[in-house]
Amino acid sequence: DYEGEAIKRAPVVTVMGHVDHGKTSLLDYIRTTRVAAGESGGITQHIGAYHVETPHGMVSFLDTPGHAAFTSMRARGAKATDIVILVCAADDGVMPQTIEAIQHSRAAGVPMVVAITKIDKEGADLDRVKNELVAQEVVPEEWGGDVQFVGVSAKSGEGIEALLEAVLLQSEVLELTAVPSSPGKGVVVESRLDRGRGSVATVLVQNGTLRKGDVVLAGLQMGRVRALLDENGNSIDEAGPSIPVEILGLDGTPEAGEEFIVVSDERKAREVANFRQGKYREVRFARQHS
Ligand code: GTP
Ligand code: NA
Ligand code: MG
Repeated sequence: DYEGEAIKRAPVVTVMGHVDHGKTSLLDYIRTTRVAAGESGGITQHIGAYHVETPHGMVSFLDTPGHAAFTSMRARGAKATDIVILVCAADDGVMPQTIEAIQHSRAAGVPMVVAITKIDKEGADLDRVKNELVAQEVVPEEWGGDVQFVGVSAKSGEGIEALLEAVLLQSEVLELTAVPSSPGKGVVVESRLDRGRGSVATVLVQNGTLRKGDVVLAGLQMGRVRALLDENGNSIDEAGPSIPVEILGLDGTPEAGEEFIVVSDERKAREVANFRQGKYREVRFARQHS
């Protein structure tokens, strides 16, 4: 029932792949080279999501861990995004979490762009990696398939522009839109309790606009947004579609992957949160006593 104008929005990209194949290094390289020189506060590490401006448009990124214990986080990451960058190290090839990441992308129906990382390393063998990915039915365009492959190095920066171009090309095909004038909604990326600030939740706005002062319902939690922080820790007043932000002011820590919505009625939001918490406790109690 929100009659706003739909506009083009930036792609949300999740970087997935085997442990130590270079996901975070790739993101750090992109972020470091894209953050405006002299920007106050510099770069912080605590947020697993950020966005950058490129000559071809904006892109938002989510980082996921490659460790075996984080399967569900990768599944949630794949669902929260438009495009997966599948990272595979040129000196190591396809490994168990590479295959799992492919499966998560497919299950979520999300297109992949392959980044073959660490091409600067001795022992880098791009053809071997390509062949191993073809064995998983991930076939490069130059071999007649439908997946863009780009070799990159987070050390030298080689290939990273081409990777961003590949991502934005894929994004064009998807024709992503959003309605900024509608109430903010999206997904929780992560949350934690901070000793000084209380609940800190990193969320990705998927549609609409989230504003300081909004009442938010997020999984079992609710609250009025006391502050919104961008990925550099700077206070902002609002965040539109495809923008990741930190929210202060929730009364607890919602689970990663939970949906959040802005609601107009604070009392109703509290009712729903209380109801959900009651349900949650019932289910837990039943499990403990069965
Ligand atoms: P997890 O989050 O633990 O799954 O790892 P990750 O995929 O984020 O890998 P990370 O970026 O932590 O990199 C792992 C190691 O590979 C680090 O020692 C990096 O310095 C190194 N590395 C990453 N990218 C490159 C690259 O392009 N070239 C070289 N030579 N080393 C790289
Ligand atoms: Na690592
Ligand atoms: Mg990492």
